[in-house]
Amino acid sequence: MTEKFANVTVLNHPLIQTKVGILRNVSTSNQVFRSTLNEVASLMVYEVFRDFPVKELEIRTPLEKVNVKQLSRGITLVPILRAGLGMTDGILQLIPEAKVGHIGLYRDKKTLEPVEYYSKFPSNLSETEVVVIDPMLATGGSACTAIDFIKKSGGKNIRFVCLVAAPEGIIKMTDLHPDVPIFTAAMDRELNDHAYILPGLGDAGDRIYGTE
Ligand code: PRP
Ligand code: URA
Repeated sequence: MTEKFANVTVLNHPLIQTKVGILRNVSTSNQVFRSTLNEVASLMVYEVFRDFPVKELEIRTPLEKVNVKQLSRGITLVPILRAGLGMTDGILQLIPEAKVGHIGLYRDKKTLEPVEYYSKFPSNLSETEVVVIDPMLATGGSACTAIDFIKKSGGKNIRFVCLVAAPEGIIKMTDLHPDVPIFTAAMDRELNDHAYILPGLGDAGDRIYGTE
């Protein structure tokens, strides 16, 4: 948690921060950007899932019975297309049993408002813990719209994971979805006139897919 925003956890682990530096660097190739983004996402998983509900289960070791712990609810990952896909494989590496819903949004270049073009969620969404994934939280429009959709589709226990967050986006999320904790690797200074995060890392989707 930060002093300023009770719903935000900034993951300051040195391994995560070193990789954030690689992602911010304009000289990083698309190939390295892609692999590094997934690596950071894997490292972030430990904190994001730290307080997940667990249940006890009795098993047998080769010697005797013992109670072990297991996640008690299913998990649905919801990457916001496109850029959210860039973190999803990294998370799936550690939680391969998770289901994956998708929501397609892009920011209109003029209005900067999110426009929805696709959504598909697992039918048992309401019974699962939902993790919404997008590397960038800028104005917060995309994240808030995605979470509106997920709630309308029955999603209840929702967390949001990003790489870089701007104060503007955090404030919007806190206003509209105060029940959704935010996990980020970096909290940046501000948005520029085009709603890009400063210092940021540029357009995450373009840097993942080489479309800049
Ligand atoms: C980027 C990013 C977020 C959104 C953040 O996506 O991946 O989804 O912008 O901005 P916001 O907080 O102001 O809504 P973009 O719209 O560029 O689409 P893309 O992922 O297809 O590149
Ligand atoms: N979307 C991005 O990909 N980067 C930003 O800085 C803001 C929104």
